Amino acid sequence: MDDDRDDDREDAELDGIPGDEDDAGGLRPGTQIEVRITDLGSHGDGIGSYEGRPVFVSHALPGDLVAATVETVERDRIRARWLELVEPGPVRVEPACPHFGPCGGCALQHMALHDYRGWKRGLVAGILARNGFEDAKLAPMLPAEPRERRRTSWKLRATARKAVVGYMEAGSRHVVDVEHCLLLVPELDRLIPQLRAFMSGPDGYPHPTHFRDAHAEATEGGVDLVLTLSQAPDAEGLQALARFAETAGLARISWRPEPDPVPEPQRGGRGRHQKGRQRSPARGGPRAGNAPAILAEPEVVVRRQAPVVHRGGVALEPPPAGFAQATASGEEALVSFVAGVFGHVIEEGGTIGDFFAGSGTFALALAHRGARVIAAEVEGPALDALSRAAAAAGLSDRVTVEPRDLMRWPPSARDLAILDAAVFDPPRAGARALTEQLAASGVPLIAAVSCNPVTFVRDAKILAAAGYRLVRVMPVDQFLWSRHVELAAEFRLDPALAAARGGTGRQAPRDDPHAPPRGRGAAKTDRGPKQRGMR
Ligand SMILES: C[S@@+](CC[C@H](N)C(=O)[O-])C[C@H]1O[C@@H](n2cnc3c(N)ncnc32)[C@H](O)[C@@H]1O
Repeated sequence: MDDDRDDDREDAELDGIPGDEDDAGGLRPGTQIEVRITDLGSHGDGIGSYEGRPVFVSHALPGDLVAATVETVERDRIRARWLELVEPGPVRVEPACPHFGPCGGCALQHMALHDYRGWKRGLVAGILARNGFEDAKLAPMLPAEPRERRRTSWKLRATARKAVVGYMEAGSRHVVDVEHCLLLVPELDRLIPQLRAFMSGPDGYPHPTHFRDAHAEATEGGVDLVLTLSQAPDAEGLQALARFAETAGLARISWRPEPDPVPEPQRGGRGRHQKGRQRSPARGGPRAGNAPAILAEPEVVVRRQAPVVHRGGVALEPPPAGFAQATASGEEALVSFVAGVFGHVIEEGGTIGDFFAGSGTFALALAHRGARVIAAEVEGPALDALSRAAAAAGLSDRVTVEPRDLMRWPPSARDLAILDAAVFDPPRAGARALTEQLAASGVPLIAAVSCNPVTFVRDAKILAAAGYRLVRVMPVDQFLWSRHVELAAEFRLDPALAAARGGTGRQAPRDDPHAPPRGRGAAKTDRGPKQRGMR
């Protein structure tokens, strides 16, 4: 499948623009046009109309009158490059950051916060309404604030004389050097100039051209930094990294090599724990052509302090560059939402499946509150960290981890039927294979957390077709001034609806074509619903 075409389809879905093929009407690239912007697209670009066709102009805002040059004429839209602002609209404000514009990190800093937040919540409202979920209760959006982002990835470029630490320019391969970033918590913001000095300063890293990027997370023990380098550090490099950890007061510093694509058959695998220099299929990252990028597990150089974070009241030492919700307030809102959905299941000590569990943001919080949790995830190091945290908190008897590639080998509907409730929180691609099994399992309560409304509604329709009602949705902004919006949703199985739609309820099929090969575990009949994991 062509990724660009997939992206285009997602955009059309979020923008609510039908993909019909209109005649271009003789409009050619290079033509200069003047457009009154009336709307904002899913990428944060202004949408106007020219001769009845939607025109997208980046950086233009509703109410603006802009002059623009036509760049491309596509089947459902015209894309035009901003030339000048003829007349500003009412929502336009002065951006707070001097890097806004070139820096691809923010798309909408020049829009009044109230209007920006309304637009983001509107994206979720629009896609729900267009897909038959207009009855779901839509909560106000949890807003993001500046200086809240507790993890980030910087692009790094350096020569012997000059170092660049920053973010990609939108739609280009150029890295914008940033002095500060308003989005970041102060610990991360302070690291930007320190990192720049380390990259090319006199006492810095001996091989400046080896820097590629950095992943940083602010933890309670200090910043946890992972550098991606084009070559493994030699003895001198390792010493320099250790020195930098000391002077910058980092909790831990690690490095990993640049990702490289591997052929499809080598990726993933059910139940595989990755150790040492093995490569991880689940991480995102830059891609060569259409091949998926895979990242090696980082190698720790120095751990000066434990990079501890608290997840739902439980202390956890995450693996280097492991997943973390981007803001503490976002995490808190998502966890409270999910715990609220599962209220009585938790009180009764019921069993909850946490799918795409990471290091246990939901699993630890739910177990801490009294539930039994089966946490399934592909990343071995994340599950190891989760198990250690559960053990240290005395929760081992309530938390079972299940290393599993959920895209390829989701548990079968029959195995899922042991659960009293389930939460899933997949990457942008969504959780189609798992949702199909959940839909057939009859698990009465499901919470979904999603960073992509398009794949969310696709998966929600699978649940709806099996008799689940989408009760409520809470949009969450963890990526201030960006186009990204997250959400949490509650689904309840409606037995009457399930019966009317031929749903299986608890009568899940025995022979499921999606069921993974059986490798271990006792026979189904021996497995108490509140005691064991899934096969
Ligand atoms: C959005 S994160 C959520 C993590 C966790 N729920 C949290 O809130 O911290 C998505 C998770 O899905 C995992 N993942 C990605 N692909 C996967 C796959 N094929 N099978 C299982 N887990 C996968 C990632 O490793 C990551 O931990």
